[in-house]
This record gives sequence, structure tokens and C-alpha cells, in this order.
Amino acid sequence: MNTTTLTDKLKTTQTDFLPLQGTDYVEFYVGNAKQAAHYYMSAFGFQALAYAGPETGLRDRASYAVRQNKLTLVLTTPIRANNEMADHIYKHGDGVKVLALRVDDATSAWEETTKRGARSYMKPERKKDNDGEVVVSGIHTYGDTVHVFIERKNYSGAFLPGYRPWNNPYYKPAETGLLYVDHCVGNVGWNQMNPWVKFYEDVMGFRNILSFDDNDISTEYSALMSKVMSNGNGFVKFPINEPAEGKKKSQVEEYLDFYDGEGCQHVAMATNDIVRTVTELRNRGVEFLKVPTSYYDDLLDRVGHIDEDLGPLRELGILVDRDEEGYLLQLFTKPVEDRPTLFFEIIQRKGAKSFGKGNFKALFEAIEKEQEARGNL
Ligand code: FE2
Repeated sequence: MNTTTLTDKLKTTQTDFLPLQGTDYVEFYVGNAKQAAHYYMSAFGFQALAYAGPETGLRDRASYAVRQNKLTLVLTTPIRANNEMADHIYKHGDGVKVLALRVDDATSAWEETTKRGARSYMKPERKKDNDGEVVVSGIHTYGDTVHVFIERKNYSGAFLPGYRPWNNPYYKPAETGLLYVDHCVGNVGWNQMNPWVKFYEDVMGFRNILSFDDNDISTEYSALMSKVMSNGNGFVKFPINEPAEGKKKSQVEEYLDFYDGEGCQHVAMATNDIVRTVTELRNRGVEFLKVPTSYYDDLLDRVGHIDEDLGPLRELGILVDRDEEGYLLQLFTKPVEDRPTLFFEIIQRKGAKSFGKGNFKALFEAIEKEQEARGNL
């Protein structure tokens, strides 16, 4: 029996040429950043943090940063046509542009990755204001998505130089218990999973810690393949999906069609109390996928003892899975745009380091129902 756990895999030491401290922020290009920021505040419980736009000297965009615990989202919109942001939205709709990673040294991060073949998005740049200095650099990844490296050890401001603190004294929505980014999944094209796995291995020093083939992730109708990439300390995890042949259309293919290319499929946000978090989100209008209630009939036979009562899990549609190290609870929103593209996962880990393989089938059947309703199966 193979008893190597994911924790063991992460312990294998090797020199890390790209040490990462975690996700710094996730930036979305959206059609209307003012309204999108309000959605993440009112529905997800983020708090206003910082703003940049014409009033702070930016002539082409407005950006709103919102935060909840260690999760920071940035909503950016162009305020004129004919620029990279407007083109991104025309092609992709609202979506993730930047997966920003916190580093000790953004210059070294750029040098180490570009010399291994990464395409530069932004050369190392020093940005200063009265609160200190930040160094930023960036590289391209799949599709039009980029990684920006943020070195902020000499900075004490609200978010980044160029932003001003932003808050509305009359509107402070209660938080919902979201804590940090657990992982971000990329959807790539046919036969592109392995090249992107190699990119994360060679260019960023990540390791492939889990693989799922189309036998693991298929229903009667549709299939996909996935490999989970992790950086050395396990703080940053990027599963990469590609579509697989099935009788009907893969959900990854539907994404690629409507996003018009490769991009971020979902961002998983961690909580310590998924029942409370999902109850809050649902009460504020966030829509979740629903598995058939028969999922719960043999749940405890499959996963063994869990601390939570089954009633609320069934009522909220929360999924449970177990690996060698513990269990996890998870639930997926429906897409948060009208295009069937980006969605969110809410995840609570109780020891488990894996991604819910035992839930794939039930989950994909739920997604197929949604695809069918959209006429895209
Ligand atoms: Fe996930």
C-alpha cells in the first residue's frame, strides 16, 4: 500500500529558487468595478480597503481592493475603450487577470522565472509613497492570466502605492468567515495540461502532488483531467484542468468556449466554519450547486465519523471527503457571471490536504444539470 501522504510529498526538500509566502491578492478585470466591489462586500462579506482611479492620478482605470482576513480581491475596470483591460473584458467577460504571489524578493522572482523561460509581464518596478516601498514584477501564465510578484516588506500602507485608503463609514457588511485563498484552478485547452504542468515545474519550481485522469473525473457523459501543482511550502496550489472526451461536452470545454480561451476556473476560499459561512453567503444571495439529497444517504459509510451534524450539511448541500490525513468539507458556487466561467469554492479542511476526489462524480453530475439548462451539454 502506498502510504505517502501529501504532507510527506511536500516535505521532500529541494532548493526553492522561488520562495512564496502565499497569495497576495486576486485581481479581476470586470465591466463595472464599482458594482462588482459592492457584490463582494454585500454577498461575500469583504471590507472596503483601498481605491485607485482618476482621483489618485490613474487616467485609464479604477480599482477597488476589498479584504476579508488574509483574502484580498481587486476589482479593476477600464474607464475608456481601446486598451488591454477593455479588450480582456470584451473577449473573456469578467474574469481573473492577476494571481498575485507574495515574495521576499520580487526582483529575484522575476529573474529566476524569466531565465527559466517565463514570458515577462512586468519588469521589476519600485513603487513608493509616504508609507514606504513595494517592488512588483510579473510573468505570463496560461491564457491572458498573469502572476505578479509582490515584495511588500518595506511597506506599511493600506494596500499598494498609488491606492488611497477607502472605506464607507455607513456600510460595513458583516464578514462571512472567509480566511485565505486555498487554491486557484486553471482551465487549459486540449492536450495543454502537461505543458502547463511542465511550466510550473520548470519555471516556478512547483511539484505535481496529485493527478486525476478521466477515469477519476468522469460521469456517464463528460470528463476532464487534472493535475495539482504546489510550490515548495504548499502555500500556493494551482490545479490545472483540461477537457477529456466524453459522450457530451466537458465542463472545461464549456468554460473554454465562453471564456474564449484558457483562464482561471475557480478560486477556493477557506473557512473554519463552513456551515456558518455557507449559511451567510446563501442568505445574501450567493447561489450554490446542489447535489441530489441521495448523496447523504451513504455519506457516513464513505467518510466515517465527522464532527458536524449531517442535518445542516444536507440542508446546505455541503460535500465531504476523506483522505489519509483527515477530511474536508466543500461546496461550489454557480458561476458568478452570466457567462458560465469563473466560480468559487468554499472549503474547510480538517486534516485533509486533498481536493475532494470522492465528490467529483456527484459534483459533475450537478454541473451537467446546469450545463444542460444552459443548452451547453
Ligand atoms: Fe477546487
